[in-house]
Amino acid sequence: MIRKKLIVGNWKMNKSGSDGITLTREIIEAVGREVAVDIVICPPFTALESVGHALEGQTIKLGAQNMHSDKRGAFTGEVSAEMLRALFVTHVILGHSERRTYFGEMDNFVSKKIRAALAAQLRPILCLGETLIERETGSTLAVVQRQLDSGLREVSKDQITSVIVAYEPVWAIGTNKVATAAQAQETHTFIRVRLTELYGTALAQKVRILYGGSMKPANAPELLAQPDIDGSLIGGASLEARSFIDIVKTAIAAG
Ligand code: 13P
Repeated sequence: MIRKKLIVGNWKMNKSGSDGITLTREIIEAVGREVAVDIVICPPFTALESVGHALEGQTIKLGAQNMHSDKRGAFTGEVSAEMLRALFVTHVILGHSERRTYFGEMDNFVSKKIRAALAAQLRPILCLGETLIERETGSTLAVVQRQLDSGLREVSKDQITSVIVAYEPVWAIGTNKVATAAQAQETHTFIRVRLTELYGTALAQKVRILYGGSMKPANAPELLAQPDIDGSLIGGASLEARSFIDIVKTAIAAG
């Protein structure tokens, strides 16, 4: 298998330090030494350090949910890539639709963050996805291409395999309205074709494209069986050990 599946838990603004440690320990107990899939958990900033300690010696990696593109400075409330690295963070979610919608993040800013993350040896998880209106008006692929091209602007051939792409249709996030496997696969194929145009077949085949949006243990098998769905970015179902572990096990079975 050219791409190992990757399961990412995005806890969003949930779990304090102690709740986060409890959840982390439960996940470690079930899949802490798993090597058949890659696993990343992304607690809120305040729980990064404690969850990071709990993950010491495990194969599970630590991710952040956002960062600023500058190294330091007068940016109240922000954290830099270097600050995350100091807490042994290896991955960072960037351009999540909640950042774009509620905090006004534009493509340009997301693309600066991608470059800053790569420069600091962090693996960015670049989120893309259309709103319901955009899907209904037939502009899904145009939106996805705009966000992808902009996010990858100035990402070189040497860097592209460090980037993870996450397709998250906005209408499917936290709504229990999951994209059908066919809808998701169609967009993932489109992303793969675009990556091929930008970076060539060999590199495009190595980039992992995750699906996110109401993934649950019940719908995970069909989604994870699609040829271009290389894993998942999970919100709600990552907050409970059992459902997260079930999806991890589904990914192992899907190979
Ligand atoms: P849900 O799994 O809660 O729909 O959230 C998806 C998401 O936004 C992950 O980043």
